[in-house]
Amino acid sequence: MTAHRFTPRGPLTGRIRVPGDKSISHRSLMFGALAVGTTTIRGLLEGEDVLATGRALEQMGAKVRKADDGTYSVDGVGVGTLLQPEGALDMGNSGTSTRLLMGLVASHGITAAFTGDASLSKRPMGRVIDPLSDMGASFTPSPGGTLPLITEGMQPAVPMTYRLPVASAQVKSAVLLAGLNTPGTTTVIEPVPTRDHTERMLRAFGVEVTVEEIDGEKHISVTGPVDMSPCDIEVPGDPSSAAFFAVAASIVPGSDLLIENVGLNPTRDGIFRVLKQMGADIDYLDPREVGGEPVADLQVRHAPLTGIEVDPDIAPSMIDEFPVLFVAAAMAKGATITSGLEELRVKESDRLSAMAAALKISGAKVQEREDGLLITGSSGEPLPGGGTVTTHLDHRIAMSMAVAGLASETGVEIDSTEPIATSFPNFTALIDEASA
Ligand code: S3P
Repeated sequence: MTAHRFTPRGPLTGRIRVPGDKSISHRSLMFGALAVGTTTIRGLLEGEDVLATGRALEQMGAKVRKADDGTYSVDGVGVGTLLQPEGALDMGNSGTSTRLLMGLVASHGITAAFTGDASLSKRPMGRVIDPLSDMGASFTPSPGGTLPLITEGMQPAVPMTYRLPVASAQVKSAVLLAGLNTPGTTTVIEPVPTRDHTERMLRAFGVEVTVEEIDGEKHISVTGPVDMSPCDIEVPGDPSSAAFFAVAASIVPGSDLLIENVGLNPTRDGIFRVLKQMGADIDYLDPREVGGEPVADLQVRHAPLTGIEVDPDIAPSMIDEFPVLFVAAAMAKGATITSGLEELRVKESDRLSAMAAALKISGAKVQEREDGLLITGSSGEPLPGGGTVTTHLDHRIAMSMAVAGLASETGVEIDSTEPIATSFPNFTALIDEASA
């Protein structure tokens, strides 16, 4: 484990570009593997999670290559013709790789073993095992419904209509991906909207995806088996990665930072809306479309923040950004109250308890509740800093507390920076660049 102390080093300025969106990168590789022909992907996130998806798809017959200019290409095998993988599929730290690939395997006549690191091996897989079993697949999970587990696909699988019991884009996507090779119509009913990259990108690969709004719920359907045509994808910058810099520039006095090419899909931009509600100075410059997704450059200047009560309905559109929002809250004037965040307890770590502990060690006032945190901010005063933060193999705890370190008196020590490479390999280099 490599510990690192993130210390205050002055304002963040200039322009930076964050890496490609993680959710979109996973899907571009998966859909490329299902198309017949060659898909090209510009701006793919080269994080460990996405590379794990690429390796698993290669084990099932796809060819993934990187050209000298950084463009990736995927030679697909086609829907229905994924090959039997020889060894286990090592998913590393990645819940998205695991749950979406379980969906793909579920409707193919193959059997795959899924393994992962200590964090992933604690995460619940029952949420995808339940619907995929109803479609005909069989599962042998570890006790508690976790990895390592074996998925035995069923070809042909049985179509179903599934109402999501948790707001989860991974569960939605797993069922829809199983539906691609299932004869008949597979429908997911989504009571609360979650990120819609699967729906958008399937259409780009030539799949008809219908979305109907009935009684305030979305009914999303695919009719299989589908043929998928290859596509040229451009991956926009990841709003979840941009969020660390948006908070850093908001809380470090004197900052004026331009973050280029940030994806602003309305199912992902909740963090920027909440920061603005708290008084953050964020402008969207040159709004445009990249790869079928809304994108803009974000100009972020330091501004005094005020605590708010965060509307729980906004949670799905910023589900990965709460750790860094908690850092902003710790620097705001007054109290910030969050609720309805039970899902944070089953991410790469229990993010409510991990962030409560990390912020307390750094001198913030935090009360942990069942479904959220109550944070009383410092009114812009730097956090004292001091102790060593435990990241629990969670990249977003590491990066959030690195941001806290930039706005502290003595710095914040992160016990291990390795997890950062799962989603944002050049994070520390970009911090250095922006604060040079
Ligand atoms: C993701 C969905 C979310 C998110 C994860 C990526 C996706 O997970 O937290 O980082 O790409 O579909 P849930 O579906 O568990 O909410």
